[in-house]
Amino acid sequence: MIKKCLFPVAGYGTRFLPATKAQPKEMLPVLTKPLIQYGVQEAAEAGMMDIAMVTGRNKRAIEDHFDTTYELEDQIRGSSKEKRLERIRGLINKCRYSYTRQVEMRGLGDAILTGEVLIGNNPFGVILADDLCTGDEGIMSQMVKVYEKYQCCIVAVEEVPHDEVSKYGIISGDAIDKNHTRVETMVEKPAPEQAPSNLAIIGRYILTPDIFDILRETPPGANGELQVTDALQTQASAGKVIAYRFQGKRFDCGSIDGFVEATNYFYKLLK
Ligand code: G1P
Repeated sequence: MIKKCLFPVAGYGTRFLPATKAQPKEMLPVLTKPLIQYGVQEAAEAGMMDIAMVTGRNKRAIEDHFDTTYELEDQIRGSSKEKRLERIRGLINKCRYSYTRQVEMRGLGDAILTGEVLIGNNPFGVILADDLCTGDEGIMSQMVKVYEKYQCCIVAVEEVPHDEVSKYGIISGDAIDKNHTRVETMVEKPAPEQAPSNLAIIGRYILTPDIFDILRETPPGANGELQVTDALQTQASAGKVIAYRFQGKRFDCGSIDGFVEATNYFYKLLK
């Protein structure tokens, strides 16, 4: 059983300035739910009830979101508005939340390494809340099944247009079947002519705890940052990374286009 899920949420969200000037990007709502809540819901659905967040300055709203808001709750007690808090209350009760801070923005690999204190010696999920995923079965639940079979690191992938590969970690390897590939090569944000394929990692990982020692030994990579993709290459060279083409949809809510698409998609579901 994988019980823990790590959420790196320290990033600035500069693409959404000025909206993210004084609030975390993970609190931007798609309809009425902030992005981070979709992510935590997905983790809980997958049985990961220990929610570990790597936060930074200006991220307090996230902690407050997963806590009781006495004044507000007192105000609306007994009214029809109370219903609107049902889902978040459910998540607050179901999960345990812990937080640690990333002091400097040194990349996703560094954020994950910062989370070691919360994760310990356990396999764990990683969700990047910017990538909003939805499917008949949650993407993380699907990945848990893949982990149970292969017992190694799992990354969720999807095909992206060739001219967009430089936004992602790109993988290639030996196809096991239509949806599973044993990864041999992983490159973080390659130029299109250097990309080994157009299969991009999206913000869902299951990692084994040996990744922490590997991260400690990994030099800075793309953008001068510590990249989890580079650490995973060490695992991939030993045949210990499976790329999984998930069933469902993913919206890049780190971009304005993706955010608007997600909003329209969930709005139509309501109608
Ligand atoms: C991160 C990872 C990248 C992955 C992407 C998915 O990049 O480093 O490998 O493809 O998330 O969203 P970022 O978007 O943080 O630049």
